[in-house]
Amino acid sequence: MMFAVKGTFVDTPLIGAYRTRVGYAVVDSGVCLGVFSTLPIEYSNIDIKDYGNSLIIPGMSDLHLHAPQYSYCGTAMDVQLLEWLEKYTYPEEGRYSDIEYAKKGYANFVKDLKNTTTTRAVIFATIHNDATLELMKQLDEAGFVAYVGKLNMNRNAPDYYCEKSVEQGMKDTRAWIEKCNFKNVKPIITPRFTPSVTDDYMCELGKLARETGLGMQSHLNENRDEIKWVKALCPDSKHYSDTYDRYGLFGGECPTVMAHCIYCTKEEDELIKKNGVYIAHCPTSNENVLAGIAPAGYYLRNGYHIGLGSDVAGGHTLSLLDVMATSVQVSKLRSLYVDNSIRPLSMAEAFYMATVGGGSFFGKVGLFEKGYEFDAVVIDDANPDNPMEFAIEERIERLAYLGCGNIIHKFIKGA
Ligand code: GUN
Ligand code: FE
Repeated sequence: MMFAVKGTFVDTPLIGAYRTRVGYAVVDSGVCLGVFSTLPIEYSNIDIKDYGNSLIIPGMSDLHLHAPQYSYCGTAMDVQLLEWLEKYTYPEEGRYSDIEYAKKGYANFVKDLKNTTTTRAVIFATIHNDATLELMKQLDEAGFVAYVGKLNMNRNAPDYYCEKSVEQGMKDTRAWIEKCNFKNVKPIITPRFTPSVTDDYMCELGKLARETGLGMQSHLNENRDEIKWVKALCPDSKHYSDTYDRYGLFGGECPTVMAHCIYCTKEEDELIKKNGVYIAHCPTSNENVLAGIAPAGYYLRNGYHIGLGSDVAGGHTLSLLDVMATSVQVSKLRSLYVDNSIRPLSMAEAFYMATVGGGSFFGKVGLFEKGYEFDAVVIDDANPDNPMEFAIEERIERLAYLGCGNIIHKFIKGA
């Protein structure tokens, strides 16, 4: 139940500033009791896992990704979002109606997710109940903490991958929720995005959220053509955010993650902040499907909840270390070409988003602090061939830019 981890702990209790401590983290029943420079006498009998000079960082939370898209990750980069969905996404997600295909695809996904710094994730599956339950089972068995959504989609989709009626969709969604009996993997309501979900369906999903207390995830203001489309589909809505908010699916009582938020209006920003909606910043995906660059620095520095998302397979990598580096890079381009009043992100700010920024969606997660759940990744980044010595912040930078380092152990809730 109780043990100590010895090593070099790096986290970001304050936005943009690393904290480094060498010592012992004491863990009891999955929860950190504190980090101590010497092991307090009352813990002198507990087991100590000594990781020497390795870096120990908080487990990362991926706030947005599509597990069934992992099979085509790293391909399909020739078109922008709306065409990409039609040409690549729907055909592949449709294949998950076949449970054998789903088992294989999700096993491949979970296997590779294990080899990343991610310990928690908020995930889109497909419209299929059985395949979604299979994904949840595999994630749970692998020890991940996750919210997973069976997709809701009843319009603007091909016949083979479209729910036939609101009644059937609600029936399936309720049946799926009832079967979600996993330890650390929970359901989340998942209307794909407004163009995929009719108003009456969205309304029923809002009722379901109130009835069950479940959260929701979706996409918001990712692409200019998408925004025009939403205006045409919902002419009486105040803005894109309102197409969720008017059904009670936009924060407040309904914990919400919205992916992208690249083109939000001032009014939408105010609503996001007031309702405590989490923003999943997905810069690798935003580059690949030609979406744009979100003002992540603005959100981070002005009291919004923001974390990072790999958005696989719009994003080409499951590695949030890669996504961190890209978030810094694109923030520089944004400051040059879009708005120089927002200074570029620092790597410490990106690290904050990847750890405690997204982690807080799951509760006390993302710091080595008394009372926080102990999610930690131990990385051996030693390179005896390099004559240069690196400071801690440089070691983190190198992990993000070079991907160097071996993950030698991962703790999720202390396990
Ligand atoms: N908007 C609606 N569906 C998707 C998706 O699968 N990926 C991305 N990036 N955006 C979307
Ligand atoms: Fe997405």
